[in-house]
Amino acid sequence: MWIHAVLVLSCCALAVRAQFPRECTSTEALRSARCCPTPFGRVNDPCGVSLGRGQCLSVQADTRAHGPQYPHVDQDDRERWPLRFFTSACRCTGNFYGFNCGRCKHGFTGVNCDTPVPVVRRNVLTLNPSERRSFVNALHQAKRTVHPDLVIATRRYGELFSPDGNTTMFENITIYNYFVWSHYYSVSKTFLGGGQPSFGGVDFSHEGPGFVTWHRYHLLQLERDIQDMLGDPRFALPYWNFAIGGNQCDICTDDLMGARSSFDENGISSNSIFSQWRVVCESLDDYDTLGTICNSTESNPIRRNPAGNVARPMVQKLPEPQDIEACLQLTTFDTPPFYSTSTDSFRNTIEGYSAPEGTYDPVVRSLHNLAHLFLNGTGGQTHLSPNDPIFVLLHTFTDAIFDEWLRRHPGSADYPMENAPIGHNRDYNMVPFWPPITNAEMFVTAPENLGYSYEATWPARPITPTEIITIAVIAALFVVAIIFAVTTCAVRSRSHNSEGRQHLLGEQYQRYDDHDTHNSKSQSVV
Ligand SMILES: *[C@@H]1O[C@H](CO)[C@@H](O)[C@H](O)[C@H]1NC(C)=O
Ligand SMILES: *[C@@H]1O[C@H](CO)[C@@H](O)[C@H](O)[C@H]1NC(C)=O
Ligand SMILES: *[C@@H]1O[C@H](CO)[C@@H](O)[C@H](O)[C@H]1NC(C)=O
Ligand SMILES: *[C@@H]1O[C@H](CO)[C@@H](O)[C@H](O)[C@H]1NC(C)=O
Repeated sequence: MWIHAVLVLSCCALAVRAQFPRECTSTEALRSARCCPTPFGRVNDPCGVSLGRGQCLSVQADTRAHGPQYPHVDQDDRERWPLRFFTSACRCTGNFYGFNCGRCKHGFTGVNCDTPVPVVRRNVLTLNPSERRSFVNALHQAKRTVHPDLVIATRRYGELFSPDGNTTMFENITIYNYFVWSHYYSVSKTFLGGGQPSFGGVDFSHEGPGFVTWHRYHLLQLERDIQDMLGDPRFALPYWNFAIGGNQCDICTDDLMGARSSFDENGISSNSIFSQWRVVCESLDDYDTLGTICNSTESNPIRRNPAGNVARPMVQKLPEPQDIEACLQLTTFDTPPFYSTSTDSFRNTIEGYSAPEGTYDPVVRSLHNLAHLFLNGTGGQTHLSPNDPIFVLLHTFTDAIFDEWLRRHPGSADYPMENAPIGHNRDYNMVPFWPPITNAEMFVTAPENLGYSYEATWPARPITPTEIITIAVIAALFVVAIIFAVTTCAVRSRSHNSEGRQHLLGEQYQRYDDHDTHNSKSQSVV
């Protein structure tokens, strides 16, 4: 038993990963553009190379063309991420992971990172009262605990060094607020200079194929950070099945994400710890006019008014259960222009810019987008949404659907290589994660490749009208065939003249084959 405890402890003592690791943000480290720290407990051993954990290598950044949405060049630190900041980083071997290769990949533990641990994400409503308390407490602890390894830049690269050049503009931030900050950073506008409007046609985590891969990594990072904080490598984020229809937020109870306040319809009940949370990244005007970046300063409480957007009835009810099954049937991951206008794209549908059956429609908000907008408050505004912890559960469910889609469509290696919006090409390093990780690396089934799985059952596919007709026709033909066969046998026993009728029967089966089920299915989808 104590050996096990020592293993867990030594794993967690080495456990370090980051946005930019604190030790890479000194003026010297930043000027060298090299971020290859030594694992904790070692001396001058970049990336733990002497232990075979990893190597310090040049960072590869995507060079393929991106879509036309972003017309600027060299205006934004996030172009060719992360080369503006660092050109060398640790590349870890085997199951080693982290900015210094000091920790294990998700789902592994032990000194050699070769002991698998199950990380199972469950429906939050199936958690018992003590599991619910533990989950809420873990989030609250993450909201208050300063991130052990990473710090955030609060200025663009050009203003990152103090005027004397001796210090850099980085801040400590808590684990949960880092989760909010990284989302904000990925969606923030491009600052084009004082007095000019910032450019908003850029989004490194939404409205493109990277939507599912980016948010998948975002959750993995939070889950890992909480595992390390708790010293529990089995800790798993639960999910919220938001596809329940109706206008009730079933997880908005005080034992989970907080009931509605009795005094303020936009507030959270004081019986919930989340009523004490304060948001970060709210000062959009400052960021857009001064060109600063969201910092760790907290401001107002979370706002939330489920089903409260009376001015927009379409977002007053949650997605329906059949919407999930409809989107899972789409066979193409993403379609040109790989944007929020894509039609018959699984990604644009689960993201929620298309109808659940895949057709793009500018007025539609479905699935993921609809669940956000339903919250009518902090959780419904892209730059702020992770401040409401419902974001975590909403996105684990979105990720569960993505994983089920990958499982049902194996070999769909159709993640676009190029011409997706900036940040969304297959080999683009997702902004702002560190160490560098591409969209492609998250485009794999989770249980086999990423060290976690979902405990989920998916609604059976409802039978479409076309299929009902097909089944009726087959049944009728079957009856006819039996009657025919019986009659033929009866007739044959007296006469040999039945060829013409057999030919007719053959033609009927032939016509059914022409109406191949695949064709009729894709038609009925539209
Ligand atoms: C900045 O650092 C340089 C050399 O390291 C030193 O000479 C100088 O006094 C420092 N300036 C300030 C304002 O601390
Ligand atoms: C962040 O916190 C660490 C540890 O508490 C401290 O050593 C460091 O100076 C802080 N860094 C910044 C940028 O405030
Ligand atoms: C943090 O951000 C707020 C809002 O933009 C700003 O008013 C404040 O000065 C910033 N704090 C620091 C230390 O930069
Ligand atoms: C919430 O709903 C109100 C009333 O319809 C609307 O005016 C407001 O813009 C909505 N807020 C958010 C953040 O969606």
